[in-house]
Amino acid sequence: MFDTMTLTKAGGALCGALLIFLLGKWAAESLYHTGASGHGGEEMAQAYTIDTGADEGGETAEEGPDFATLFASADAGAGEKVFGKCKACHKLDGSNGTGPYLDGVVNRAVGGVAGFGYSDGMAGHGGNWDPESLSAFLENPKKYLPGTKMSFAGLSKPQDRVNLIAYLQSLGG
Ligand code: HEC
Repeated sequence: MFDTMTLTKAGGALCGALLIFLLGKWAAESLYHTGASGHGGEEMAQAYTIDTGADEGGETAEEGPDFATLFASADAGAGEKVFGKCKACHKLDGSNGTGPYLDGVVNRAVGGVAGFGYSDGMAGHGGNWDPESLSAFLENPKKYLPGTKMSFAGLSKPQDRVNLIAYLQSLGG
């Protein structure tokens, strides 16, 4: 039958095999983890951020002058007068009227005023009101956001829109 030496060898071989199996499994898991959600994920996020920055100003080519160019020369003082068209529904003191307050709306989350009863379309839109998307919304609210509760025909003049957005931005938030 088996002598002690044979038993020891068999036992040792078994333990060694188990150890190698566990080590291999651990190595594979840590490699897989790093590749899938660690390093790789960060690279994806960075690429996305860079793309978003590069897109700015390129999307409103149909308006004639580039949005960024127009916005750069906007006149906040003139925008204050344009805001007269919004006053019936929007306030600038942090309180809601028929519409949500607009102080701080530039770069605020779309549908982001807690406690205001937005339409489903506005509430579910997502994203932020950057100057460009505000301009697109204000040009034709119902076209930009079908089902919106904002009863406003729109500001057809690009210059009026950038002036108004510059005014809203100057208010901070
Ligand atoms: C007749 C009332 C009315 C007028 C006039 C009006 N709005 Fe609105 N506005 C609303 C309502 C109501 C909402 C909410 C819309 C929804 O939930 O779909 C809204 C929403 C908005 C939003 C989205 C805010 C957020 O928190 O996401 C912006 C921006 C906005 N209005 C800007 C303006 C500007 C600028 C003007 C003037 C050029 C204007 N509105 C004129 C009623 C009005």
